[in-house]
Amino acid sequence: MSGQLNIVVGVTGGIAAYKAVNVIRGLVLAGHNVHVVATEGALRFVGKPTLEAISRNIVHTDLYEGVAEVRHVAIGQAADLIVIAPATANTIAKLAVGLADDLLGNTVLASRAPVVIAPAMHTEMWQHPATVHNITVLRSRGVTVVGPAVGQLTGTDSGPGRLEEPDEIVRAALAVIAPKDLAGHRILVTAGGTREPLDPVRFLGNRSSGKQGIAFALAAVARGAEVTLIGANLEVAAPGSMRVRHVSSTLELAAAVEDAAPDVDVVIMAAAVADYRPAVIAESKIKKELAGDRLTLELVKNPDILARLAEARRPGQVIVGFAAETEQDADALLALGRTKIARKGCDLLVLNRVGWTEGFGADSNSVIVLDRLGDIVMEASGSKQSVANRTLDAVAARLA
Ligand code: C5P
Repeated sequence: MSGQLNIVVGVTGGIAAYKAVNVIRGLVLAGHNVHVVATEGALRFVGKPTLEAISRNIVHTDLYEGVAEVRHVAIGQAADLIVIAPATANTIAKLAVGLADDLLGNTVLASRAPVVIAPAMHTEMWQHPATVHNITVLRSRGVTVVGPAVGQLTGTDSGPGRLEEPDEIVRAALAVIAPKDLAGHRILVTAGGTREPLDPVRFLGNRSSGKQGIAFALAAVARGAEVTLIGANLEVAAPGSMRVRHVSSTLELAAAVEDAAPDVDVVIMAAAVADYRPAVIAESKIKKELAGDRLTLELVKNPDILARLAEARRPGQVIVGFAAETEQDADALLALGRTKIARKGCDLLVLNRVGWTEGFGADSNSVIVLDRLGDIVMEASGSKQSVANRTLDAVAARLA
């Protein structure tokens, strides 16, 4: 969802409470207003000032504070979403029976908002029939349960019970409230960076991690789309909630895109594609003993996949291109974007600045989206997920 929401993050008293900081941070970076309700137990594991600094709001714990403003119901009533991370076995049990002996219990009961819980506990506790029953009860009531993951626990033991990764909790929580405005649409997303082989062990490549493309794919799935992801040398794991094809070189990417594009309503070309490839791929490792002090590579131009797609688009198909530029001057950057969208013929162009530390590989991004006339459709800054969602708003408007 792209508008700012009121999200309550409940933090309960498990060791994993320190990881709640990253959940809160992810939700804030996604542009939302986050209010933390921490249990007494949670504050034994993580400091109130930390939670306040990261959430940018006062943290509430005490049921008997703020009575004049009826805080025990006010927080829940104002919530658009409640995320409890970590959720201990104790809190899960209390939620299942509807106990309200602390501020978090009151907040949940006083709210009509969707509830997402991310359990964290030792395997024995997670697998105990009482917890299994409580989770079944919560699920039947519409609560979304994220995780737990399987892995190293607090002690030397490992197994199911580890808190799901904070990024995944944020993604799953926001998916619960995402508008389903892309339902019934098929979307093709390319992500990552192509590699052009020089010889069996070397390539020419770029620093694209695939994070922005994957954020687009996940956001589109959350909004109801059927997504195919074509990943070129992804540095992050491809999600399980979509069809994924892995490619490496530009020619492989071109073939995969040309195969998939005719059947989709939207193509999002987030992959960083090499404009040139070596004219010859050496059969065996290029030897410095043979090449000497200087080695000249001859490169030939790759096909422009995006321009071809735009040319072959069927009526109603929406094609989104990207322009990652190192230009520092804002006006010059915009001028580059305008020239590029005119040349490529796509419907929307996502323009962003990249550099040694900016753009590629980072978790956040700052973009300007242009339309075919070169007009600014919108500007967005924040997590790659929120940038994806804001851009998808523009895509959804075109599909409508
Ligand atoms: O020209 P430039 O590489 O800056 O264009 C970037 C956009 O064009 C991206 O959307 C990228 O995926 C796409 N592209 C392409 N084929 C190429 C080069 C770039 O589809 N050969």
